[in-house]
Amino acid sequence: MGKIQNIYDNNQFYDEYKKMRDGKINANELIEIPTMKSMLPNLQGKTILDLGCGAGGMARYFIEQGAKNVYAIDISQNMINEAKQLPCKNIEYHIMAMEDIDKIDKKFDIVFSSLAFHYVEDFKTLIHNCYNLLNDNGILLFSQENPIATAIVYNENVSKHIEINNKRYYLISDYNNISKRNLDWNVKDVIKYHRNFETIINTLINEKFEVLQIKEPSASKEAIELVPKYAYQTDRPYFLFVKAQKK
Ligand SMILES: C[S@@+](CC[C@H](N)C(=O)[O-])C[C@H]1O[C@@H](n2cnc3c(N)ncnc32)[C@H](O)[C@@H]1O
Repeated sequence: MGKIQNIYDNNQFYDEYKKMRDGKINANELIEIPTMKSMLPNLQGKTILDLGCGAGGMARYFIEQGAKNVYAIDISQNMINEAKQLPCKNIEYHIMAMEDIDKIDKKFDIVFSSLAFHYVEDFKTLIHNCYNLLNDNGILLFSQENPIATAIVYNENVSKHIEINNKRYYLISDYNNISKRNLDWNVKDVIKYHRNFETIINTLINEKFEVLQIKEPSASKEAIELVPKYAYQTDRPYFLFVKAQKK
C-alpha cells in the first residue's frame, strides 16, 4: 500500500480549500450537505463516529439534532485545529487516519463520512472496519466523489470533456481502470482513489452490509442559479451517497 497522503496539512492546499468552504457558495453547501442531512436516520440519543470530520460542521449538527456523542477523526492537524475553535462538550476530536480506525475500542450507532472515502486506498479494509465499529443494525452513511467524476486519468493535455452544440460530454473511458488518480486541485498531485460502482457496492455486500439507499443527485434549480456550471451536473453527478445497515 502507498504512503497515506495528508494534503489538508499542505498549507497552500488548506488555504485554498478554506477559502472555498468559507465562501459558502460551493457544492458542499448546495448539494452535499443537504443530501446527507436528508439521508440521516433519527439522531436522538445516538452515538456517532465521523470519519474525515474536517472542520466539524456535521459533528456539531449531530449534537444539535439530539445525538448523545460524536467521536470525530481526521488525519489533518489543520482541520482538527479548526474544528476545536468551536468546542462542544459531547464531541471528541482525534487526529487519526481512517486507515487506523481498527484501533478505536468503542462501538457506534452510526458511522458517517462526508467526502473522505475516496482518499483511502484499501476500501475493503475500510468497510470491514466500519462494520466492526457498528452496533447491530447500525447505519453506515457516506458520500464520496462520484465514480463518473473520478474516472478520468488526469492529463493536462486531455480535456475532461468535449463540447458539442454547446453541451458538455464528459470522458469516462478510464471508468473500469480501478486505481489511484493524481489531480491538480489547489496544488499538484492530490491523490484520490477511483473505484467503479460495482466495486463500491459489491464491497459493501461482501462485508455483510445491506444497502438501503443510493443517491446521485442533480443540483437544484436554485443551486444552478447561484452556480451556472452546475447545469452540467445533470450529465455527470459530482457525488455518490450510500446508506447501508449492519445486519
Ligand atoms: C473534502 S474534506 C471533507 C471534510 C468534512 N467531512 C466535510 O464534509 O466538511 C476531506 C477530509 O478528509 C480528511 N482525510 C483525507 N484523508 C484522510 C485519511 N486517510 N484519514 C482521515 N482523514 C482523512 C481530510 O483531512 C479532510 O478533512
